[in-house]
Amino acid sequence: MSDASSKASPSRNERLAWAENLRREFTANVSHEMKTPLQVISGYAELMANGLVPPDDMRKFAGLIYEEAQAMRALINDVLVLSHLDETAPGAETRNPVNLASVAERVVHRLEAPAREAQVVVELSADPVEVLGNETLLEQMIYNLVENAVRYNEEGGTVRVSVRAERPQADQCERGTLGKGCGDTEEESPGEAVIRVADTGPGIPVAAQEKIFERFYRLDKSRSKETGGTGLGLAIVKHAALYHNGEVSLESEEGRGTTFTVRLPLA
Ligand SMILES: Nc1ncnc2c1ncn2[C@@H]1O[C@H](COP(=O)(O)OP(=O)(O)OP(=O)(O)O)[C@@H](O)[C@H]1O
Ligand SMILES: [Mg+2]
Repeated sequence: MSDASSKASPSRNERLAWAENLRREFTANVSHEMKTPLQVISGYAELMANGLVPPDDMRKFAGLIYEEAQAMRALINDVLVLSHLDETAPGAETRNPVNLASVAERVVHRLEAPAREAQVVVELSADPVEVLGNETLLEQMIYNLVENAVRYNEEGGTVRVSVRAERPQADQCERGTLGKGCGDTEEESPGEAVIRVADTGPGIPVAAQEKIFERFYRLDKSRSKETGGTGLGLAIVKHAALYHNGEVSLESEEGRGTTFTVRLPLA
C-alpha cells in the first residue's frame, strides 16, 4: 500500500482549517503585492505635487506611475478572477459553446506588441475546436500561457500555439481524468480539445514543475519583478482548466523550452 493511501483522510475540521489557512495566506500575499506599486505611485506623485521633479523629468515620472498603476490593475484583475473561481460551485454557471481557435487567434493578436518587443515570434495553428464553457475564462487561460511563453523566452525565440481535437490518451482514460471521450471506438469518442503552447525559453526545473501552479509562486523572483509578474497566471490556468473539467500539464527540459498542454472535453 502506498503512503498516501495508508494515511487516514483528513477530517472535515482539518479540511476547513487548511482552506482557512490558504485563504489567510492569499490575503496576506495580495496585500503585500499591492503595497509595493502603491508606495511607488504615492512616492512619485508626492514628489511631483511638491514641485520636486524638474520639468524635463515630468514625463518620465508620469510614465513610471502609469507602469505601476498598470501592474496593480493586472494584479487586481487576477485576484478577482481567482476569487470568482473559488466561489463558483461546479456546474453553477451556464456554459456556452466556445470556438477555441477564435479565442487563440484573439490572444495571439493581443500579444503581438509584447512579442515584437521581446523579439519572439508567435506561430498559431488552430483547428475550429469547440468546448462548452466560459469564453472570458478560456481567453484568460490561453492568454496567461502565451504571455508566459513570450515573457520567459529568449530574444529570437519562438512560441508555437496549437489548438486541435484529439483522441484522449489511454492513460488518461484509465486514470479517469477525462471521463468523456474515452469510448472504445472512433464513433463513441467525441475526443478532447487540446491546446499546446510550446516555447524555446530556458525551461522549468523538474523540482519546480508542480510549484509553479501555486498562487504567487515565481521561479526567479528578480526576473519576474523586472517583467512585472506576480505569480498568479498559472494558478488561473489550472483553475480554469479544472472549471472546464479538464487538466493542464507541462513538459520541460532545462535550456530547451517548455510545452504546456491543456486538455478539455469537447462540446
Ligand atoms: N513558459 C515558461 N518558461 C519558463 N518559466 C515559466 C514559464 N511559464 C511560467 N514560468 C515560471 O513560472 C512562474 C509562475 O508563472 P505565473 O504565470 O503563474 O506567474 P508570473 O508570470 O510570474 O506572473 P503573472 O502571470 O501573475 O503576471 C513564473 O514566474 C516563471 O518563473
Ligand atoms: Mg504569467
